[in-house]
Amino acid sequence: MAKRIGVLTGGGDCPGLNPAIRGVVLRAAQAGMECVGLREGWKGMMSGVHVPLTPHSVKDLVGKGGTVLGTSRTNPFKKEQGVEKVLETFKNLRLDALVAMGGEDTLGVACRLYQERQFPVVGVPKTMDNDLSATDYTFGFDSAVTVAMDAAARLKDTGLSHGRVMVLEVMGRHAGWVALFTGIAAAADYVCVPERPIDVDDMVAKVQAAHAAFGTSLVVASEAIDLPGESSASQDGLDDFGHHILKERGVAKCLEALLEKKTGIETRSAVIGHIQRGGAPTLFDRILGTRVGVRAAELVIEGRFGNMVALKGDSAVPVSLAEATADLKIIPSHWLALLDTVTEKTGERAAAVV
Ligand code: F6P
Repeated sequence: MAKRIGVLTGGGDCPGLNPAIRGVVLRAAQAGMECVGLREGWKGMMSGVHVPLTPHSVKDLVGKGGTVLGTSRTNPFKKEQGVEKVLETFKNLRLDALVAMGGEDTLGVACRLYQERQFPVVGVPKTMDNDLSATDYTFGFDSAVTVAMDAAARLKDTGLSHGRVMVLEVMGRHAGWVALFTGIAAAADYVCVPERPIDVDDMVAKVQAAHAAFGTSLVVASEAIDLPGESSASQDGLDDFGHHILKERGVAKCLEALLEKKTGIETRSAVIGHIQRGGAPTLFDRILGTRVGVRAAELVIEGRFGNMVALKGDSAVPVSLAEATADLKIIPSHWLALLDTVTEKTGERAAAVV
């Protein structure tokens, strides 16, 4: 049985990581094992910088945002001697197993280490983007959408006071889950997601109809949508994992200008950016983080390496890291159909009912 477990958090932080760290440490302690936290994701596994993790030190973590271990988007497979350094740290710290918490990138590294070097690793899925296909939900998503939903309600208040159209840009990278859930939960009039092109005429018609009926209108847009007339080459640089860094693409500003021009209605936009990633985890994310953390420690105890803990229905179950990192989970058609139902032209419907 493993006696000393390393824990790391990689990629973008999100609420739920601290509850998950706590879950691993408490379950490990129950089984007589100790935990060590590696600082800043795979970077810590390369440098060896670490902190002790004890039941005492994780006591109050369940309600804290971010990650106490720090994080980075470091890919050891892209660094000189990176993998060798990871293996060296593992040996130097006398670790028996590693729990890696992250999204497709962090878990992709874990998967390769397991497959190519028989590295004893268990994965914990996290991402506010909710784009990991093997699990129903990832922690971080519920908290991010709750913040975005609140932002949308605030925009609607000021939009109504001024009779304006309001645009809210949210994160989510190449999957539109954050925009989709925010749009549905905040009763947006149009939601732009990367999974399908914007139908500009439809968007303009819906915005105008809602504005006529209710005095304001809200559009929610995901950061990675294709903008009308924009080539993907205008996106920012690439990170260590080859992803476009999407900051400052100006999606919100572009839609603001487009909508003002086409509707003739004064329009304003807001980008909430990293505000979505901060703050205390929601109840859902505290519980989910705790569950997957505890289950990850159990997989270590059982020696079931090369797996990630997935939420399937009401169960936290192991799925292979290979399966977990194979495909990105993007919005399927039945969710888009639901979106279309709830963003039907409200003006016309309201007029028809009257
Ligand atoms: O993957 C999580 C995420 O928040 C994405 O939604 C976003 O595109 C990206 O991280 C931002 O990354 P960074 O924190 O490096 O700016």
